[in-house]
Amino acid sequence: MTIKIISVNKNNFIEWRKSIRRVFGDIPKDEDVKRLARDRMMNPISEWKSNNNRLIAAIDEDTERIVGTGGADKLEITIPGGKPIDMAGIAYMGTAPTHKRKGIFSSMMRKLHDQATDRGDALAGLWASQSLLYSRFGYGLATYREDWEIYSHNTKINKKASDDIKLEFVDKDKALIEIPKIYDQFRKNQNGFTDKSEGYWKYLLHEDEKSKYNKSGMSGFFFVICYKNEKPSGYIFYNIKKESGVAHEDDKGELIVQEQIALDTDSNIALWNFIFGVELIEKVYINRRAPSDPLYFLLENPRKLERNTIDGLWVRIIDIKKLLESREYNYKGKIIIELKGQNQPDIEGIYELETDGKISEVKKVKSKPDVIMRPSDLSSCYFGAVSAYELFQAGNIEFNRNNLIKDFSNMFSVTKKPWCNTDF
Ligand SMILES: CC(C)(COP(=O)(O)OP(=O)(O)OC[C@H]1O[C@@H](n2cnc3c(N)ncnc32)[C@H](O)[C@@H]1OP(=O)(O)O)[C@@H](O)C(=O)NCCC(=O)NCCS
Repeated sequence: MTIKIISVNKNNFIEWRKSIRRVFGDIPKDEDVKRLARDRMMNPISEWKSNNNRLIAAIDEDTERIVGTGGADKLEITIPGGKPIDMAGIAYMGTAPTHKRKGIFSSMMRKLHDQATDRGDALAGLWASQSLLYSRFGYGLATYREDWEIYSHNTKINKKASDDIKLEFVDKDKALIEIPKIYDQFRKNQNGFTDKSEGYWKYLLHEDEKSKYNKSGMSGFFFVICYKNEKPSGYIFYNIKKESGVAHEDDKGELIVQEQIALDTDSNIALWNFIFGVELIEKVYINRRAPSDPLYFLLENPRKLERNTIDGLWVRIIDIKKLLESREYNYKGKIIIELKGQNQPDIEGIYELETDGKISEVKKVKSKPDVIMRPSDLSSCYFGAVSAYELFQAGNIEFNRNNLIKDFSNMFSVTKKPWCNTDF
């Protein structure tokens, strides 16, 4: 069996998409595959550019069929200190069950990392279907993801909304104009947030015409924009799930917040007051929040917020010099870091990092390292969700210089913890 890796083109796009969905156990309709290309990738299949090599397929040369899929979306992510850097958003990874454990996934990952290097991306990032899959390739946990279930009947927001705030329901056309602008302002100041293209918003807010008008079960989207002193300052969009079509207090209604973003404290308080004020609702759900979210401290009875915490965004270093020189640190001085142990020759080696906190310089050196760690552990420390001390306690980091543990942990710490709410 010989496998070759090729770029996805207009002739194999539908087969490619169906191959991915098969490994996740579903069969997409052709029209949904076309929508993916047109909206999310902003590149209709009929006009697919032959030089678009961000999507790849592994082909079994015996059958000429696709047996593996992968790709890298073009993303920008905000790093500690506030700079945006280019990130390869790795997604669509799958190997046909008929061709498992023959190294197809590993070769596709290598190819995607090589392509990211050629493009000049500093980082690769992904959301993992299984948490054991990616550290072998140098990925570390960059953000935690919390999914919440709130018994909104039994608690409320402990602060009133300010009179400076106004809330307005808008239709989807206006939402598609206003929400991306507010999101973009927010993400530029939030460590770990990625951009969302115009097409991605369209894809995200797509609704099936049948389910949009459901009277029972899950409703269509409701969009609310928040204004502080007349300026857009936050939003939510949500669905309501109820058993009967009439809405009744015995219905045990559920409000599913798809996204809530606020640019300031007053807008955050007002939006949560709004959510808790929606009547005939017993529970509120919201996914992909950060463990550092202030909502817990805004609840009268905080234990009514149940949190399920799992891994969120995973990242891998692509250009170590660019990456380490771009962020800010809580440290002034020089540290020599050796990265080794995961067979990732493009990033393993010894690096000297010298910084005054804001401006940093990274050089490849041959000196004795102060710190030895795996590439995945440095990736984990980078955004500040995981401290070097935790990794040291797990036996993943070795220190050769006295008293460096504290400095090294502080060096990567951040005031505003990272959050990523886009599962791409
Ligand atoms: C996960 C998946 C992509 C692996 O594909 P594959 O081509 O069989 O993987 P490879 O043969 O390249 O294996 C790479 C390594 O990962 C390990 N591995 C792969 N899948 C694994 C799994 N489910 N559990 C544990 N280890 C796994 C292999 O043992 C191998 O380890 P090694 O490098 O130490 O030898 C494939 O099983 C799949 O499509 N699963 C369902 C979809 C999915 O979860 N996709 C990932 C989306 S984030």
